[in-house]
Amino acid sequence: MSELAAAQAAYAGFASAGLKLNMQRGQPSDADFDLSNDLLGAVGPGETSLDGIDLRNYPGGVAGLPSARALFGRYLGVDAANVLVWNNSSLELQGLVLAFALLHGLRGSQRGWVHERPRMIVTVPGYDRHFLLLETLGFELVAVDMQPDGPDVEAIAALAASDERVKGVLFVPTYSNPGGETISAEKAARLAGMATAAPDFTILADDAYRAHHLGAPVETVNFVDVCAAAGHPDRALVFGSTSKITFAGAGLGFVGTSTDNLKLLATYLGAQSIGPNKLEQARHVRFLDAYPGGIEGLMRAHAALIAPKFAAVDEVLAAELGTDGAYATWTTPRGGYFSSLFTTEPVASRVVELADAAGVSLTPAGATYPGGVDPADRNIRLAPTRPPVDEVRTAMQVTAACIRLATAEYRASQG
Ligand SMILES: Cc1ncc(COP(=O)(O)O)c(C=O)c1O
Repeated sequence: MSELAAAQAAYAGFASAGLKLNMQRGQPSDADFDLSNDLLGAVGPGETSLDGIDLRNYPGGVAGLPSARALFGRYLGVDAANVLVWNNSSLELQGLVLAFALLHGLRGSQRGWVHERPRMIVTVPGYDRHFLLLETLGFELVAVDMQPDGPDVEAIAALAASDERVKGVLFVPTYSNPGGETISAEKAARLAGMATAAPDFTILADDAYRAHHLGAPVETVNFVDVCAAAGHPDRALVFGSTSKITFAGAGLGFVGTSTDNLKLLATYLGAQSIGPNKLEQARHVRFLDAYPGGIEGLMRAHAALIAPKFAAVDEVLAAELGTDGAYATWTTPRGGYFSSLFTTEPVASRVVELADAAGVSLTPAGATYPGGVDPADRNIRLAPTRPPVDEVRTAMQVTAACIRLATAEYRASQG
């Protein structure tokens, strides 16, 4: 039997099985959520205040409850005074900061960025919602490669030095979406210290997976300190959220930055809100402080649920496709929520199409590139956290069969 005929037969077996599996979005599983169910009752009926602040009333300030700022300050490795805790989404907070920057500028700006046809550097493969947010706000995106030890900082340095329209870089510093890469201390120092044409060049570090280790923790970077040490204290804004710690989209987003940046953000945010939801902040403080081992303890419990799913991805792909790169290569992340697969031939969209027809929903090909277009048509984001491990295994067997078939089709078409 030819390679193509064998691949067609293997695929047909899966396609007729009536599967309905979803590996598209990075969502926690119900078992992950169950770890945090005590959050729902963490503030009892008699508890109406925290830090001497009435949780039911407006006063309390725009930067969040002092104990929430202290908790997430420890998480980010910065002083409580350098943290602003907002509401349920760090993406929203990123959007608010970027909108303020467009309208009024940030520290060091002469005017709102919108007047300067701003460009923003992003890493590829990257997070589709970063691209959507920036594109929706009107930024022109400039893509640089994500490498195993973080973004291609020499490409970023060259862009930033030569073009004052380049206002910053938005990327995931720890266990990146989708490849799971973590920036090295050397690369972080280079970004913090590099000369930039724009005086208000900003590092927007979306540290969504800072504590999301699958095994031994990697060394994480503290961009607030690194930028201060490099003489650019206002260069970094570091975002985080509890969406993959407690409940997705029903927790808290926060940002750590310099004292002066924080003052500026508080002015902007304070103009449009009297303050964030202090009740949610109090619940998180009560719940996370009481959890055995705190946030780290909770993240270890998540890892026990999630690590076997990543191991299944790796195991099945290696067994079905080999590890010599004949069909694909993929990342084996040490943390975070995703793995990034590259097909050897330009067949990612065909693989996603075949998988869909066989009942396995994968992240659309191209989603990991600005505009939804992967110029090489090779990258597929794998998101194994939500389905149970046996479904992950089946989904990856189907995906591997699709990769074999799409590859065989492509090679046959090339003669
Ligand atoms: C890198 C990254 N940032 C932010 C988010 C969403 O965070 P939030 O729910 O706090 O808006 C995600 C979710 O997948 C993500 O992967």
